[in-house]
Amino acid sequence: PVLVVDFGAQYAQLIARRVREADVYSEVVPHTMPVADMLARKPLAIILSGGPSSVYEDGAPRLDPALLEAGVPVLGLCYGFQSIAAALGGTAAETGVREYGATRLSAIDGASILLKDQDLEQNVWMSHGDCVTAAPEGFRVTATSAASPVAAFEDPERRIYGVQWHPEVGHSDRGQEVLRNFLYQGAGITPSWTTGNVIEEQVARIREQIGEGSAICALSGGVDSAVAAALVQRAIGDRLTCVYVNHGLMRQDESAQIEKAFGESTGGAKLVVVDAEDQFLTALAGVTDPERKRKIIGHEFIRTFEQAQADILRAQGVIEGDHAEATAFLVQGTLYPDVVESGGGEGAANIKSHHNVGGLPEDLSFELVEPLRTLFKDEVRAVGHELGLPDEIVWRQPFPGPGLGIRIIGEVTKERLDILRAADAIARAELTAAGLDRDIWQCPVVLLADVRSVGVQGDHRTYGHPVVLRPVTSDDAMTADWAKVPYEVLSRISTRITNEVREINRVTLDVTSKPPGTIEWE
Ligand code: XMP
Repeated sequence: PVLVVDFGAQYAQLIARRVREADVYSEVVPHTMPVADMLARKPLAIILSGGPSSVYEDGAPRLDPALLEAGVPVLGLCYGFQSIAAALGGTAAETGVREYGATRLSAIDGASILLKDQDLEQNVWMSHGDCVTAAPEGFRVTATSAASPVAAFEDPERRIYGVQWHPEVGHSDRGQEVLRNFLYQGAGITPSWTTGNVIEEQVARIREQIGEGSAICALSGGVDSAVAAALVQRAIGDRLTCVYVNHGLMRQDESAQIEKAFGESTGGAKLVVVDAEDQFLTALAGVTDPERKRKIIGHEFIRTFEQAQADILRAQGVIEGDHAEATAFLVQGTLYPDVVESGGGEGAANIKSHHNVGGLPEDLSFELVEPLRTLFKDEVRAVGHELGLPDEIVWRQPFPGPGLGIRIIGEVTKERLDILRAADAIARAELTAAGLDRDIWQCPVVLLADVRSVGVQGDHRTYGHPVVLRPVTSDDAMTADWAKVPYEVLSRISTRITNEVREINRVTLDVTSKPPGTIEWE
């Protein structure tokens, strides 16, 4: 891999993504990892990320010079660039002049490997207080800017490069070229990280892990679990059983769509559908508190899934009577950002099942199969597409596990769910028809079931419920803004909902960003 050494940058994952977009596999490692461990991974190149510290500050993350002496090509960005200067005898200093945002360079060396054929008519994204004031011996300075006497340098002999700016962000016009030049020319890497190769590699790994065993996967209808299941299915065929729990809180026709799309696209993986609507609605009766709703739904889900699992394992002879020795494999759609955020640990964790509720033997442990552990969301979509999953699944917007249960403010009942399903289906259909699906992150429709307002329809007074449209834009759901959906589209949604859903006489728009609001209302 190409290792991205994270010096506390908000951009470390982004760098890894950009490297992969150049068809080269890349992983993020913490700067605290010993150099020997980094080298043990046989990196083709190393990229040092930016970071919030100042190179000479007490307690600032230090670059171990051994990393620069290992003969592995290195590219330093921002803080990483300054660290190279400091480690090799150049100087980085606080000049008192800060550069922030889109900046122009004042000179570029045309013979540079990184900046080949680039000119001054481009923005580079800067974000720094310190700068390099003298390049280390043996390096040539390849760019300068008003505030950075050394804005880029390189030593092609030692294959060490650096730039003061952030080529990984979209605001750096030709940043991707800088990264490519480093990877292909500077480090001599042949690009080979393609979707086809990812699939091949993952399929081989899954076969190796599961051997002759069999696996179970809970399908949620979302893209991650679907792609994970499709990969495992490709690896072990019908020794994979998928379980889909219909909790009755899904949107209109959703369960049928999932069954159809899934059955068709994975070449007939075994799919067990558990219809548990009554069980969930009974458990939710009378409950209005959002946290209690979530707990109940989560608890019922585990119980239902485990029962299904126990039945499947029994049918397969994995469990006999009341003891089990075999390992069962459980497929999960964990993505790379989750792995990085939780410390990036290697290897599959063993989880114990909640045997007290599902009737599974105590000594049955599950080994996790996580074929998406190394992938970013956009790569998961590409893999799903390549495996032949339909667009409805591959481009599906996020939908929360507890479903419409947390979009009814008040008690959840079958009648209320049906009302919300009808309104939600209209909103989704109109947003899709307007071509907005990929611009909008998601658009919850929320039923204010305990609120009524007076209206008038066809000379009659009505006393119905409001729904709230909550269209948002977002990159990762951590923050979001309300989406500026065109008035005509909002107007069509409003007219259709109030005409077609008898119980609803008012449609409102939520214009709150996150923070302070969350995306969902509960
Ligand atoms: P909030 O409301 O926290 O939502 O801004 C952020 C994102 O997470 C989704 N969400 C959930 N997804 N189980 C899930 O699988 C949940 O309990 C859950 N709650 C919120 C939400 O739809 C949004 O995309």
